[in-house]
Amino acid sequence: MLADDWWRHAVIYQVYPRSFADSDGDGMGDLPGVISRLPYLADLGVDALWLNPFYASPQNDAGYDVADYRRVDDLFGTVADAEKLIEAAHALGLRVIFDIVPNHTSSAHAWFVEALATPPGTGIWSRYHCVRGRGADGQEPPNDWLSVFGGLAWTQIPDPASGDPSGWWYLHLFDTTQPDLNWNDPEVWAEHERVLRFWFDRGVDGFRIDVAHGLVKTEDYPMSGEQPGMYSLELDTPVLPQWDQPGVHEVYRAWRGIANSYDPPRAFCGEVVVPTPESHAMYLRTDELHTAFNFHYLRTRWDAAHLREVIDHSLATAGSIGAPCTWVLSNHDVRRHVTRLAPVESDGSVDLERGLARARAASMVMLALPGSAYLYQGEELGLPEVIDLPAEARQDPTFLRTAGEVIGRDGCRVPIPWEGTTPSFGFGPGEESWLPQPDFFAELSVAAQTGVADSTLEMYRSALRIRKDQPGLGDGELEWLDSPPDVVAFARGSITVVANMGDRPITWPATELLLASSPAVTFANGSVAVEPETAVWISGRR
Ligand code: NOJ
Repeated sequence: MLADDWWRHAVIYQVYPRSFADSDGDGMGDLPGVISRLPYLADLGVDALWLNPFYASPQNDAGYDVADYRRVDDLFGTVADAEKLIEAAHALGLRVIFDIVPNHTSSAHAWFVEALATPPGTGIWSRYHCVRGRGADGQEPPNDWLSVFGGLAWTQIPDPASGDPSGWWYLHLFDTTQPDLNWNDPEVWAEHERVLRFWFDRGVDGFRIDVAHGLVKTEDYPMSGEQPGMYSLELDTPVLPQWDQPGVHEVYRAWRGIANSYDPPRAFCGEVVVPTPESHAMYLRTDELHTAFNFHYLRTRWDAAHLREVIDHSLATAGSIGAPCTWVLSNHDVRRHVTRLAPVESDGSVDLERGLARARAASMVMLALPGSAYLYQGEELGLPEVIDLPAEARQDPTFLRTAGEVIGRDGCRVPIPWEGTTPSFGFGPGEESWLPQPDFFAELSVAAQTGVADSTLEMYRSALRIRKDQPGLGDGELEWLDSPPDVVAFARGSITVVANMGDRPITWPATELLLASSPAVTFANGSVAVEPETAVWISGRR
């Protein structure tokens, strides 16, 4: 049995349902596919899985445009499949987290469809941000807010009688088909409580909260002065009136009460994108969210000083209110970290061999940090970003809304390879996959790496096994050790972690080499030789 505070130190595997396992051969992953692969996850050694949305949806944003929060989309299965998944995961000792999308619905949601049939600015339009445009006839948008996916965040509402553009606009911080909900409306609160309870009653252990920092907007919709690209995951970007507003914390206080009313209590992980670790920590107060993704860590460069600073700052701010840190290097929205951390050559190409070496080292550092860690499906195989998807295959609204100027996130969403030498590499029973898979997936499949001593998959398996055997590794204190400036070194109980981020080999005293990110590491005469772009877990202290 896992303890009620499992979320403090769990390793959680992100399943992107579209791309994990396809049971029926339509090229789209589904819930029965996930169920069939649960033993793999248990064997890998993770504690829990998080599934991206699989609810009824037109799929304009890969399911983050939800039309019905209590139905499973036909693409993925049924509510009964979701229940089976929870039961089967629990039987294997795995916790299950679903994804809730409270910032916006799909424009195909019954509420929005109903609103469109009524005069804008009246009655049930209060569930959305329906705002009068500027200018005498309201033909100019209410303000300058931008959609994260490109273009303006406002779309003009048609007059229900004539179909002509009215002087009213609705807000969509993402795609036009994702109207933002208005959290000043009590019905929006009540509906989300019902949705949370619907899935909690079915045994789900928690929710990842989409755009958790976005629910409440500044009243009166002031101009933001925003420039394209200003909303980012970088530190110290300005706070804009549509994000991270104080009122959002009330929502999570109410949700925490709901989660706590269950036995065992349910848990939340917020997708909180805010400018500083201090504002991030506000979401983690004891009566709000249990955890929240630490995107400051995801954004660290391959640079020892930068990494130390972000780790230190994150631990200090979360620690100051007794909250755990949540570490993550890859997810379905960012370039896979093999590619992101790879050195860029003078001709603009990336050195993926060194990228993989760095990614393996970075993952070993992450898995030794105190707190919980999220792994994104396929990172345990060392998959790089698929950068050369043809334009006609791309489906990300970011690509479509910017006419291809922003390449978008499809490259990290390609269905993962399980076995075999030709597509779909065991993803489904046939060749189909909703995004095309590259030939090099053959060498990186689960089957190709299983039992191969130095493979990335076996490195993750070993790391997770050691982490389980050493309960202190996911919890407890981190003590920095003296090291050359381009080396990250810290002690975690009896284990020492050393990552060489410089360009010269180093040696480090050890009584035992527990795990290395590279086969080039040697251990002899009481010390390990650590090549550049390599991390080790050793026992013994300097
Ligand atoms: C964050 C999700 O992770 C992303 O995939 C989605 O496009 C946006 N939120 C909008 O829901």
